[in-house]
Amino acid sequence: MKFSSIVSSLALAGAVAAHPSSLCDKRGKHPTTTIAGVEVIDTPIVRDVRKFIEEYYKDYQPYLTNHLYRTWLFGAAAINNNATLKASLDLEVHAVGSMLHDLGWDIKPHSPYVTAEYSFEVDSGRFAMDWIKNWTATHGGAKDWDEVRLQKVNLGILLQTFVGSNEFVFPESYWITKSVGFEFPVGESPLIGSENYDNIWKAYSNSTMFRGTNFTFTNMAVYKPAATYTTFLSEFGLHYVPGYNNTANTLFSLIQGGLQAEIAEFPNVSFVQKIPPNGANPLE
Ligand SMILES: *[C@@H]1O[C@H](CO)[C@@H](O)[C@H](O)[C@H]1NC(C)=O
Ligand SMILES: *[C@@H]1O[C@H](CO)[C@@H](O)[C@H](O)[C@H]1NC(C)=O
Ligand SMILES: *[C@@H]1O[C@H](CO)[C@@H](O)[C@H](O)[C@H]1NC(C)=O
Ligand SMILES: *[C@@H]1O[C@H](CO)[C@@H](O)[C@H](O)[C@H]1NC(C)=O
Ligand SMILES: *[C@@H]1O[C@H](CO)[C@@H](O)[C@H](O)[C@H]1NC(C)=O
Ligand SMILES: *[C@@H]1O[C@H](CO)[C@@H](O)[C@H](O)[C@H]1NC(C)=O
Repeated sequence: MKFSSIVSSLALAGAVAAHPSSLCDKRGKHPTTTIAGVEVIDTPIVRDVRKFIEEYYKDYQPYLTNHLYRTWLFGAAAINNNATLKASLDLEVHAVGSMLHDLGWDIKPHSPYVTAEYSFEVDSGRFAMDWIKNWTATHGGAKDWDEVRLQKVNLGILLQTFVGSNEFVFPESYWITKSVGFEFPVGESPLIGSENYDNIWKAYSNSTMFRGTNFTFTNMAVYKPAATYTTFLSEFGLHYVPGYNNTANTLFSLIQGGLQAEIAEFPNVSFVQKIPPNGANPLE
């Protein structure tokens, strides 16, 4: 072997060693396993995330373990059905983000995943990033989990209840939100296929998901009401929590307060909204 080729093969080996999972991210060149008939990525961090959601929720929120597995597997099944997508997505980001997307649902004492100030979507996203950083601190691979991959996870989790379309964020983030969405179906998605649905539901029953969700959401309106006032969780508070009152704290209420203050401050400035020929409908 010529010296130069020894040097370049050493450099190549070094590059591979320094980025142990860089080969794992793309084009299906990663270990896989099959769960409920669905081929999924099977890297060390993904295995440890699975272990975590299997153990952590055993005592109080077993419906969450099933929900998180189904979220990942529905998403993985849909991705597998599209070769282009399967070859281009960072499946490790999708797996980790899908399974850590509800960290903020925790109800254990002094949870490291829940704050009084932030909504569960925010807490889930930020603590998923911390979860990954903690994992790489122990297991290595911190370089592979750069800020972009961490933010792909964070965004996908943060936007999970932003119903509408998240398709203009990172594709991995979009697929995390989409995978969560598969749990709240309007009929079966054709992207997944009946056989996958049957296998996944059989392996991870959904028999208490909505009751668990109803409890969890109502409970948030009890223990951190202020973080729910401007969100859909306020409806759980208004329906189920005695004394819950967000009337003074909605965004509507904030704007109404601003309106009155503005009129008091500028009583002589008149407001006349000019209406363009489309009747102010920008869609026309
Ligand atoms: C597969 O995914 C790609 C990338 O998102 C998309 O452009 C394409 O339309 C999908 N194909 C099918 C058949 O859904
Ligand atoms: C990360 O590790 C630190 C130190 O052990 C711990 O305090 C923190 O709760 C962990 N964070 C997450 C999100 O697991
Ligand atoms: C729950 O699983 C059953 C199959 O056991 C399925 O028929 C049903 O549609 C699922 N419900 C939801 C809301 O996904
Ligand atoms: C939903 O949660 C509220 C509050 O815990 C409870 O009062 C209500 O009975 C629950 N609904 C069902 C159908 O379980
Ligand atoms: C909720 O609070 C508003 C004031 O912020 C008050 O006017 C209203 O009566 C309260 N509603 C209930 C049901 O207590
Ligand atoms: C508004 O206009 C009225 C009448 O011209 C005047 O008396 C008043 O001082 C004005 N107020 C302010 C805040 O400029």
